[in-house]
Amino acid sequence: MWTQRHLLGIEELSPDEIVHVLDAAERHFDRADRRSVLRGVTMLCGFFEASTRTRSSFELAGKRLGADVIHISGSGSSVSKGETLLDTVKNLEAMRADVIVIRHQASGAPQFVAARSKASIVNAGDGAHEHPTQALLDAFTIRRKKGRLHDLKVAICGDILHSRVARSNALLLSKLGAHVVFSGPQTMIPREFAAIAPGVKIARRIEEAVEGADVVMMLRIQNERLAGAMFPGTREYSRTFGLSFARLALAKPDVIVMHPGPVNRGVEIDPSIADGKHSVILEQVEAGVAVRAAVLALVLGKEK
Ligand code: CP
Repeated sequence: MWTQRHLLGIEELSPDEIVHVLDAAERHFDRADRRSVLRGVTMLCGFFEASTRTRSSFELAGKRLGADVIHISGSGSSVSKGETLLDTVKNLEAMRADVIVIRHQASGAPQFVAARSKASIVNAGDGAHEHPTQALLDAFTIRRKKGRLHDLKVAICGDILHSRVARSNALLLSKLGAHVVFSGPQTMIPREFAAIAPGVKIARRIEEAVEGADVVMMLRIQNERLAGAMFPGTREYSRTFGLSFARLALAKPDVIVMHPGPVNRGVEIDPSIADGKHSVILEQVEAGVAVRAAVLALVLGKEK
């Protein structure tokens, strides 16, 4: 039974709740038209940071379930004139928003708003903190491909320090019994990750992380969150930390390659791997609509 009014992070979810969302998403996956589920619901998407996949899949999910969907962005709204996030949300609430989906550059912004809002709040990515629906759609994709999550070796490689995707995935996958290994430049591996998601290991070299992996998840360098140079250069980064065919050959033969996007081709991943037979990158995107539909229906109490 789902009882949460908001979805703020994976940290707050129990393993049973995570499986509940994944099972609900299965029911949404093949059904394009379920317009009665959110009929009469007003859904506001406040994206104060750039997005292609998350924004469009939330909008599509809401519309496919019959909600009225409005979108606002930081640059095109009165935020650009100095209005605070809370005032923005209070004004959206006054228009009787039932659910507000928020992406914000500040870690903790959705939690701050949720404590002060009558609407359901869904975190669409907050700073370097969490991206819960990305982790849920990643888990959904892995479960569909592998039939399970427990006892899988999942290598998450790249800029771990600034990645909300890495954090949410480490939390989720550990809760469901997968073995997570991080790899990346030493300057981009936070040591406290072992405490946040028990059991997460750190590999000094990408080869060690990828060896025997069932899943390899590559991350881009989060240039928008870098305080200064953290590695010598792009070519050096690609040579030392990027996913090449030689490195991928160390993984299990049926390995799947994932990336939350946007992909920086030729930097963290060989473009032929991104487009190749092991890649499930576009399947992740497809799963995003079903997972977000399930999340919207659950937080609004339209699906138990
Ligand atoms: N994975 C992801 O969050 O992509 P967008 O930034 O395009 O939404």
